[in-house]
Amino acid sequence: MILKIVKYPEPVLEQPGEPVTEFDDALRKLVADMFETTYASQGIGLAAPQVGVSKRVTVIDLSMGKDPAQKLVLINPEIIVRDGKQYEEEGCLSFPDIREKVVRAAKVRIRAQDENGKWFEMDGDELLARCFQHEIDHLDGVLFIFRMSALKRSLNLRKIRKMQGEGTW
Ligand code: NI
Repeated sequence: MILKIVKYPEPVLEQPGEPVTEFDDALRKLVADMFETTYASQGIGLAAPQVGVSKRVTVIDLSMGKDPAQKLVLINPEIIVRDGKQYEEEGCLSFPDIREKVVRAAKVRIRAQDENGKWFEMDGDELLARCFQHEIDHLDGVLFIFRMSALKRSLNLRKIRKMQGEGTW
């Protein structure tokens, strides 16, 4: 089922997600729906708060549905190692048409649980590292607009307000 993606400034986006404690069918259904929603929106990652669910769940697939081996489900994820710096453009499904460069760690190691509650660790660099950091930020209620420079943030907030005024946001 394709879920509705909420846009900024929906309050759920800035609320830290609740840790997942039940690894049940409802969780697996949420994960499946989140993948379907990500693919329908041509995204590479989605966090549960973006579909109005304040839980620490995120899905990532850099192949955008082309390679099942690249499907990643991160439940209760945390970044345990950060290394280096990168400065690349990001977008977010909750900020349609906004793309901006954001400073991120170049490499990260994350720790997360899978759909069955099993803990695992994984390293990511380049795009995957950015994706890990962007999605885990969502679970802490931190949006990429707040990772931009103050100038870029105010320009983008103005752009959003303009689109809201025109009814195109
Ligand atoms: Ni996002």
